[in-house]
Amino acid sequence: MPYYVTTPIYYVNAAPHLGHAYTSIAADILARHQRQRGEDVFFLTGTDEHGEPVAIAAEEQGVPPLELADRNSQRFRDLMPLLNVSNDYFIRTTDPEHIRRVQEVLVKVRENGYVYEGTYEGWYCPRCADFKTEAEIGPNNTCPIHEIPLIREREDNYFFELSAFQSQLEQLFDEPGRDFVMPRHRFNEARAFLAGGLQDVSLTRPKLRWGVEVPWDRSQVFYVWFDALLNYYTALGFARGKQQDLTKEFWPADVHLIGKDILKFHTIYWPAMLMAAGIEVPRHVFVHGFLLAPPEREGEEGKKMSKSRGNVIDPFAVIEDYGADALRFYLAREVQFGQDGPVSLEGFNTRYETELANDYGNLASRTVAMINRYRDGHLDPTDHDAEIAAELDGLADAVCAHLDRCDITPALEEIWKRIRRLNRYVEEQQPWQLAKDPDQAAQLDRVLATLHEGVRIVTVLMQPYLPASTEKLLGALGRTERDIAAARCSPAPVDVTTLEPLFPKR
Ligand code: MSP
Repeated sequence: MPYYVTTPIYYVNAAPHLGHAYTSIAADILARHQRQRGEDVFFLTGTDEHGEPVAIAAEEQGVPPLELADRNSQRFRDLMPLLNVSNDYFIRTTDPEHIRRVQEVLVKVRENGYVYEGTYEGWYCPRCADFKTEAEIGPNNTCPIHEIPLIREREDNYFFELSAFQSQLEQLFDEPGRDFVMPRHRFNEARAFLAGGLQDVSLTRPKLRWGVEVPWDRSQVFYVWFDALLNYYTALGFARGKQQDLTKEFWPADVHLIGKDILKFHTIYWPAMLMAAGIEVPRHVFVHGFLLAPPEREGEEGKKMSKSRGNVIDPFAVIEDYGADALRFYLAREVQFGQDGPVSLEGFNTRYETELANDYGNLASRTVAMINRYRDGHLDPTDHDAEIAAELDGLADAVCAHLDRCDITPALEEIWKRIRRLNRYVEEQQPWQLAKDPDQAAQLDRVLATLHEGVRIVTVLMQPYLPASTEKLLGALGRTERDIAAARCSPAPVDVTTLEPLFPKR
């Protein structure tokens, strides 16, 4: 089965920060998990290079927009392998192949009768690149996301007849079992926006020159959001070169992962635009929350981490010190995926020490070391502890069910419960005592085989979260099968090797 997952494409007005790493890591966890299940995965990320956010930053820095885009796009591209993110393609919206396809689709929307000329008058946020509706305006005409004054705009442009899709969108949202938007509270938010009644939106902009030219009126460029949203569709047409069009195989996308700030564009504008062009809509949009800087004073709320506030953890620095696995783990574990939550270096260190180094790293080291010490590294299991086996039974299914809904935090918690259980099992059984008594040899065999199997199973399931460390550990355990079937009990004779600490203490 094909599985197509995307991240938002990131603005190249600044260098990547932790928020961008977050969505990319989450998408990578889903992509790797689906590959383990034997699905044919296509995972797309990239950069959004047109529009006002980029044009303004370029002007401030006194460089042409494309120069800024080239420089910063490369930084996003470089971040992916550092995070161990396994994207199949990296799209840039300045790619002529993308531009040509954007024009094609939007000409089709016009031919289908959903474009008309008009005058826009209202409030605009240049950082969101968004024309705000009355309900979206903060105190004193400010942007509630960026907390900057909105600009009063009046311009002649072409409109997209969004309002024509009111009832089709309602059907999409209300289709039983469809779950177009996840999680539920974000579904409700988007559904409420829809219930408020849709107004037509600007499709083009006359003033700004940094964008995709409108083929039927060269004095205009397409509004950056439509150019950007279309990346999910256009990329499939040229990611593998001219010879291979992946659209048939992978469209519609299974899930677009996005942050909550861009919900309206992905859950309302995007499906309507596709409907207008006669293209199938994506199956799901999953909306995650914001990573927040810890509150400055007690009782206050944390603020969104953002480059402009300067309250960010630098992903490059964390990876350099601890490696990508530790960062991936922390972000998936600390903040419930779908909710907002604070992150900090202190929090990161605590999770690293108590969970990665103590709970998991120690369990892995002890297991491998005891098999070496007491059984010369060789196990020939005849049976397992039935109680532990029962607790591992069904774990793979539970993880799959969570990840089918993009619930990466609860899936990890399921795995972690088993890691804690295995640690308790070591304490209960005290293999070092069993080893002293020759009458207990069979029990020691059973305990070591149970531990080996338990660690192996949780490690198979944790590969999408910790791709580098699990690779090492599976190697040391002498069983390297990676697919999801390997996460079920399957005793077999094994030879373990030695294992360096996976998460060295600091
Ligand atoms: N270019 C648009 C998206 C176009 S998609 C067709 C854009 N880019 S962005 O670079 O500003 O932000 C993209 C995404 O980065 C957000 O939607 C979110 O997924 C992620 N994050 C940026 N800051 C974040 C946090 N502080 N916390 C969590 N994620 C955040 O919007």
